[in-house]
Amino acid sequence: MDKIRWGILSTGKIAHALAKTFNEMADAELVAVASRSQASADSFGAQYNIPNRYGSYEAMMADKDVDAVYIATPNSLHYENMLMCIEAGKHMLCEKSFTLNAQQAQLCVDRARANKLFLMEAMWTRFIPATVQARQWVQEGLLGELKQVRAEFCVNLPYNPEGRVYNPELGGGALLDVGVYPVSFAVHWLGIPDDIYSFAFLGETGVDEYESIMFGYEKGAIAQLAAGVRFRGTQEAVVIGDKGYVRFHANFHHSSRLTLKQVDMPEREVDIPYGNGYRYEVEEVHRCIKAGKLESDIMPLDETIAIMELMDTLRAEWGVEYPNE
Ligand SMILES: NC(=O)c1ccc[n+]([C@@H]2O[C@H](COP(=O)([O-])OP(=O)(O)OC[C@H]3O[C@@H](n4cnc5c(N)ncnc54)[C@H](OP(=O)(O)O)[C@@H]3O)[C@@H](O)[C@H]2O)c1
Repeated sequence: MDKIRWGILSTGKIAHALAKTFNEMADAELVAVASRSQASADSFGAQYNIPNRYGSYEAMMADKDVDAVYIATPNSLHYENMLMCIEAGKHMLCEKSFTLNAQQAQLCVDRARANKLFLMEAMWTRFIPATVQARQWVQEGLLGELKQVRAEFCVNLPYNPEGRVYNPELGGGALLDVGVYPVSFAVHWLGIPDDIYSFAFLGETGVDEYESIMFGYEKGAIAQLAAGVRFRGTQEAVVIGDKGYVRFHANFHHSSRLTLKQVDMPEREVDIPYGNGYRYEVEEVHRCIKAGKLESDIMPLDETIAIMELMDTLRAEWGVEYPNE
C-alpha cells in the first residue's frame, strides 16, 4: 500500500486542518468527505479537491476507495461513528476526546481489534517533534527519575450553550475539550495514577468550565493539572525528575520550544519548529497501517481507555453527566 486513501467525517473546524494536512502529504490521498449536508460536503470537497462527496456519514461507508476514516465530529458522536466505520471495515483516526466514557471506548477498541482494523485517538501532542525530543531526553536519563508533571490548558472559548464546548448533548465541558491534554500528558510521563484529587466549577449548562486536578503515584510522583474554557491561563507544562526538568513552552500541547535544566548545568533553551503539527500523528497512522499494526505504541488503545476511565472518575466526582452516554 503506497498511499493511504482517507475519508473525512464532518466538515467542521478541525476537519479543515486535517484536509489541508492530508493534501500536503505524499503518501496520503484524500478521496472522500462526508457531511450531514450535501451542500457542505460539496463546498468542502471543492475547496480541498476531494473527488467523492457525501451528504450523509453512512453513504461514505460504502466507498471502497476509502481505506481510513478521520473522525472529526463532536465528542458525543465518536462512539457511533467508530462503530459505523468498524462495520464498514475502515481503519480509523478518531479525534479527542475518544468517546464520552470508558465503556464506549472499550467497546470500540474491542470491535476494532476483533475486526483487525487500525484505531488511534488523535492525541497529536505525543507526535510533535518537541515531545519526541523530550521523550528522548527522558529515555537517556537526563532528568533522572520522574517525580512531577505540571500542565495547564486554560483558554477562553466564547460562551455558546448550544455549541459543542458547553453543550452536554455534544459531550461538552473543559475536561473532554481541553483537559484531556494535561490528563493524557501526565499519563504519558508518569503512567496511571493511584490517587486522584480534584475540584471543578460547573456552568449554567451543567458541564465543567474550569478545574484543578491532582494525581498521586505510590512510586512517589505527583501531577498537578488544570484546564478551563472560560478564561485564558497559561498553557505550559513541566516534566520534573530528580536530576532535572524540561519545560514545554506554550502551548505545551503543540510546543515548539523546550527548556532543559539538568542539575549543576545552565538552562538550555531549544527551538524545535515543526510546520504543520497534525502531520506527525498522520505519519504514525501511515507507519502502523503499512506495517500491519493495529495500534500505535506511542498512543496505545489501552492507555486511551485508561484516560477515559480517569475522566469518568473526575466527572463522577463533579456530578457531570451526559444525557446520551
Ligand atoms: N486536535 C485538535 O487540535 C482539535 C482541535 C479542535 C477540536 N478537536 C476535536 O475535534 C472534534 C470536532 O471539533 P471541531 O472544533 O472541529 O468542531 P466543529 O467545528 O463544531 O465541527 C464539528 C462538525 O461535526 C459535525 N456534526 C455532526 N453532528 C453535529 C451536531 N449535532 N452538532 C454540531 N456539529 C455536528 C458537523 O459537520 P457536518 O455538518 O459537515 O456533518 C460539524 O461541522 C471534537 O471532538 C474536538 O474535541 C481537536
